[in-house]
Amino acid sequence: MPKLGINIDHVATLRQARRTIFPDPVKAALICENAGADSIICHLREDRRHIHDKDVYSLRKTIRTKLNLEMSVAEDIVKVALKVRPDEATLVPERRKELTTEGGLDVLKNKKRIKSVVQRLLDSGIFVSLFINPDKKQIEAAKDIGAPFIEIHTGRYADACLAGRRACLAGRQAKNYAKKVKEFDKIKKAVSFAESLGLRVNAGHGLDYDNVKPIACLKGMEELNIGFSVIARAVFVGLERAVKEMRHKLN
Ligand code: PXP
Repeated sequence: MPKLGINIDHVATLRQARRTIFPDPVKAALICENAGADSIICHLREDRRHIHDKDVYSLRKTIRTKLNLEMSVAEDIVKVALKVRPDEATLVPERRKELTTEGGLDVLKNKKRIKSVVQRLLDSGIFVSLFINPDKKQIEAAKDIGAPFIEIHTGRYADACLAGRRACLAGRQAKNYAKKVKEFDKIKKAVSFAESLGLRVNAGHGLDYDNVKPIACLKGMEELNIGFSVIARAVFVGLERAVKEMRHKLN
């Protein structure tokens, strides 16, 4: 059974909608831990649009499970990470105008910079994961530069699942079943290839209560990192129950 990491960025997004002091993402993290989350994830973006530096420092001091900091390889962010010393850092690509992290890191294209950041983080005792698409060449490059973990981007699979559900809601026949199977198959192959290279594998992005099961069942899957669907569900049932329900799906 994979572990469950909860991304609490969306709590900070709500806070920043009014630029106020609540809801507090740190308080949310504690509720997630009590409800069974194995780790807490937050993304300190270069534009600080949701999580702020003080949240990361406070999470580091407060949470009892594992802190996974999602970050770009920009130097000012690397400096914060080296100061905070999260248990794990997940390197992600970042574009200012994107709504969320769209696509994985291009490790092949940015090998030199990524390798140097991976090394600095590892040297200071932080586990490092690279957020990449389910692509053989990217997985080989991740192995090549010495990352112990990868996180497979499940966004395309999630989009294909969503398109099917949208079609059903609109009373149309879902045409994209083949696409969903194709995207799932890519993830399955990627996980098994990464495992064969000795890499440890997480996955995340767009996972929800309906699409998570097949991904959770993949052999070798260590942790699933989930944010939006859980925080969205929490609006109706509360955060504790939303996390417990997701935990139940993974079980
Ligand atoms: N993993 C990574 C690396 C991400 O960037 C994100 C989005 O912040 C997630 C997991 C969680 O994605 P979602 O919010 O769609 O569940």
